[in-house]
Amino acid sequence: MLPDVRPDLRPDRPGADRRRLPTLLRAALCITALTAAAALLLPSAVPPPAAADSAPWYETRAPTPDGIGKVYMGREISQVMGHLGARWLERVSRLREELPERVVTAMDLAPDAAVADIGAGTGYFAFRLAEQVPEGRVYAVDIQPEMLAMMRTRLAERGIGNVELVLGTETDPKLPPAGIDAALMVDAYHEFAYPREMMDAIVAALRPGGRVFLVEYRGEDPRVPIKPLHKMTEAQARREMAAVGLEHVETQGFLPSQHFMVFQKPGSPADD
Ligand SMILES: C[S@@+](CC[C@H](N)C(=O)[O-])C[C@H]1O[C@@H](n2cnc3c(N)ncnc32)[C@H](O)[C@@H]1O
Repeated sequence: MLPDVRPDLRPDRPGADRRRLPTLLRAALCITALTAAAALLLPSAVPPPAAADSAPWYETRAPTPDGIGKVYMGREISQVMGHLGARWLERVSRLREELPERVVTAMDLAPDAAVADIGAGTGYFAFRLAEQVPEGRVYAVDIQPEMLAMMRTRLAERGIGNVELVLGTETDPKLPPAGIDAALMVDAYHEFAYPREMMDAIVAALRPGGRVFLVEYRGEDPRVPIKPLHKMTEAQARREMAAVGLEHVETQGFLPSQHFMVFQKPGSPADD
């Protein structure tokens, strides 16, 4: 049974009254909690190139409880959400909390566009993107094979034919060079252990004029009940995207708790 909530993200959830629980049930809950906590730590994926580890744009320090102790442009990178938290990504309340249909509509994709959902998880956004590009292609990228397996099952159940599953690495989304018109990252970028390498690769995969859509919980807003490392400020996101040569186009404010940020690779499709 998968845990129904993502324990790291809801610091203010009331705790259960443990004194009333029978011993066996308490033991079972303990095991579930430990499994969920372990799931937040990524089982070691393909090791990144050694050069990436010693890159000058990263610093290390003692990790905070939700972080990996690695700092990029002043921001500590968060731990990866493990696949055992998958059910949290499919919670019903997400429809009103994150307005996924509005997000994919706001991307204004051509029906034949090629688009990547990077850090796709269970495919919550990738499957919606697939409807937006009936004559195009969606690359659903994740580093956890378990997430890809869940997407594979759902794709078959729903008969969706225009989503390609891609097992990326922590440094490389394995996208075709200059092969995509847009990339979407929802609640994922802050987890990238190698954000600079990932973004360099994403920029290389974008066609001139291609767009990056970055959706992150608003770091500036103390009312958003998400732990700090799982949020981003707009200023921080803009700095990190500028570092890889992306231009900020706009930030739309239609989401209840998240930024919807749009960036663009310089050039126009005619340069392709
Ligand atoms: C919190 S989940 C969000 C999933 C999905 N975007 C959604 O909104 O439902 C973050 C996902 O990013 C993935 N991830 C973390 N680092 C990654 C990387 N470097 N490349 C691709 N995926 C990554 C994790 O495995 C996880 O599935």
